[in-house]
Amino acid sequence: MMIDLRSDTVTRPTAAMRKAMAEAEVGDDVYGEDPTVNRLEERAAAIAGKEAALFVPTGTMGNTIAVKLHTRHGQEVICDARGHILDYELAMMGWFSGCVARPIRTDDGILRWEQIRGEIRQLDPHWAPTGLIAIENTHNMAGGVVYPLEVIRELAERAHELGLKVHMDGARVFNAAEALGVSVREIVAPVDTVMFCLSKALGAPVGSMLAGRREAIDQGRLYRKRLGGGMRQAGVLAAAGLIALEEHPKLLKRDHENAKLMAESLARVPGIEIDPEKVRTNIVIFGVSGTGLSAGEFSRRLKEQGVLIDGIRGGKMRLVTHYDADRAACEKALEAIEQVAAGAMAGAG
Ligand SMILES: Cc1ncc(COP(=O)(O)O)c(C=O)c1O
Repeated sequence: MMIDLRSDTVTRPTAAMRKAMAEAEVGDDVYGEDPTVNRLEERAAAIAGKEAALFVPTGTMGNTIAVKLHTRHGQEVICDARGHILDYELAMMGWFSGCVARPIRTDDGILRWEQIRGEIRQLDPHWAPTGLIAIENTHNMAGGVVYPLEVIRELAERAHELGLKVHMDGARVFNAAEALGVSVREIVAPVDTVMFCLSKALGAPVGSMLAGRREAIDQGRLYRKRLGGGMRQAGVLAAAGLIALEEHPKLLKRDHENAKLMAESLARVPGIEIDPEKVRTNIVIFGVSGTGLSAGEFSRRLKEQGVLIDGIRGGKMRLVTHYDADRAACEKALEAIEQVAAGAMAGAG
């Protein structure tokens, strides 16, 4: 079987999830009558320390609804230049909310107030006003980078003083919590809304949550319907989501250890470029240009060896650890990477 480290979205539901799905009590969620969805939304709100939460099919839909909630047409959304909401969500800010991104370049994916303050705009004969600040925690394309708590607190406090809202794309915020050794509630306390995915590191087959003030979530429910996300007997999905939410945060420590092991071993492979110090969660980004191969070619050769890892921009590859790839699978993947790198270097020499 292939070792699939392309993403933590590739996990398959556990036996416990499948059983819970089969036995789930359901109703029509558009009428608010699915008891399992209602339970999931209550638990997600409690864990996030917010008044309410909404079950959405995808992280993209959760982020799309959040941008709509906090902005008006013709505004700007401040985000990191490599943010998921900008690069991987089909220009949803423009499509659904009539907003444009005001991307800010960062080295580590972390938006700090000093950088943001100069980018905030008021309406003027030339300028579109800032409507929202969006942050990503952990930051996917920066390599699973975790926001320091004080950065989030300062950013939200200053934004709120100016009447601006802050949304956190917390697709992997449980990984941030594990890395920092604090609760998700503490991480998201300063922000107005948070989206987090059940279907990534937590391993549910489908689903994400958007959490915030009750009024915002009630409005978000209407936007979800407009986006075609009004699901009916969604309790079969929520049942797996509940297991992901309650049981799987404790599995993340192992994923992080596997990622660290891979990063430290990769640092010793000739031709591979990585700083293992920067790897703190389940995402490992490494450069392969030193082997003389493009990331695409490296990925193709790995596939021949039974390992799936995708290339990203700039001669880099990204692997993501998850519960369906245990320590032995990670070690096998490492061997395959070493072989591909060594083969390429020998060929080049
Ligand atoms: C940081 C981040 N935000 C949002 C999403 C979107 O989630 P989905 O694929 O469920 O739409 C992803 C997906 O990989 C992500 O990594």
